[in-house]
Amino acid sequence: MSKKMPLGAKINKFPPYLFKELDKKRSEAEKKGRNIISLAVGDPDIATPVPIARFAAKEVLKKSNHSYPYSKGNAKLRNSIAAWHKRRYGTKVDPNSEVLALIGSKEGIAHLPFIVLNKGDTAIIPNPAYPAYKTGVLLSDAKVSGVPLKEENGFLPDLDAIDKKLLKKTKLFFLNYPNNPTGAVADKKFYTKIIKLAKKYSFWLAQDAAYSEIYFNKPPLSIFEIPGAKDVAVEFHSISKTFCMTGWRMAWVIGNKDIIRELGKLKENMDSGQFNAVQLSAAYALDNYEKFVPPLRKVFYERRKKFVAALKESGWSVCPSGASFFVWARPPVKMSSIKCVYKMLEASDVLATPGSGFGSAGEGYVRFSLTVNDSLLAKAARKIKKIKW
Ligand SMILES: Cc1ncc(COP(=O)(O)O)c(C=O)c1O
Repeated sequence: MSKKMPLGAKINKFPPYLFKELDKKRSEAEKKGRNIISLAVGDPDIATPVPIARFAAKEVLKKSNHSYPYSKGNAKLRNSIAAWHKRRYGTKVDPNSEVLALIGSKEGIAHLPFIVLNKGDTAIIPNPAYPAYKTGVLLSDAKVSGVPLKEENGFLPDLDAIDKKLLKKTKLFFLNYPNNPTGAVADKKFYTKIIKLAKKYSFWLAQDAAYSEIYFNKPPLSIFEIPGAKDVAVEFHSISKTFCMTGWRMAWVIGNKDIIRELGKLKENMDSGQFNAVQLSAAYALDNYEKFVPPLRKVFYERRKKFVAALKESGWSVCPSGASFFVWARPPVKMSSIKCVYKMLEASDVLATPGSGFGSAGEGYVRFSLTVNDSLLAKAARKIKKIKW
């Protein structure tokens, strides 16, 4: 009998990844011959704009792009990022010391805790939240403390309600606006207050702005529009959702110089950066943001208007949202998120994400991701309407 080799213990800290479980349910249903409409995963169905793909194809053929890239991000990309922040937010970032390229923002989010946390430290993670905030915290042997995002507070953490003892122990506080899964947006008052709190209690802020460009009316703020933010904060940005480029794996983090420098150091020791052709394509996308993004934004806005109207007609309570392609809603009848999602799958062949999968405070809610084409989305809405709850 062959000997079973022991594995490390840390990996057992992770529950099975949420979307894996949902994918399993979906493929089981599909094996039975059913056509499932999946509104479960936040991956746009729309192709990357053709000019970006054409630009990339040319870059792929250039020998100059075939060597190891500069892991911090090449100068062209970092300059385009800085120029974009100036145009989009009116904020100034130094492309040399305040910008770091990432292989997707998920990568940076997972590595950041290694820079700021020690064993036993505490990180505050909103509940509900994108699951990847926990990754680096758990691998740093630090503790996760949740703060609830409640509907009555516009899905912003109630900063006055957080225990002062917890704030004193906290070294890192994750924020995500526009928010996944709730679609909430943060205002200037909130950012100003949390920056003040971070300075008072000495903790870092990590603001995840992955959905900043999928907005409906008012462009969401960057945390760096608030004076003093660079003393305590970094902000993650990504081409993934903005340009429908999730598979390209390109993002960046901007902000506090110490974090940018040290995260760059960690990454030099772990990865060698993203393929230069991809970095240059991201720069090209950002340089032409004004051309590519408004039509994509409009698609998600129109989808949202129609889908939300249909859900409301079917008795759902839909939470207001200023951005993202997510609809966060409560079903017509009070029931657990999981029960609701499984009932929808059985009765209508529509797969959504249970709110409880993003944390206990998501219980009772369901997240719909508007990432299928218009006719499928309309079909899903019709099918949901027919469910007898
Ligand atoms: C809130 C949030 N942040 C970050 C990411 C990661 O994006 P990427 O790694 O593609 O930049 C996602 C992906 O779904 C997300 O939902």
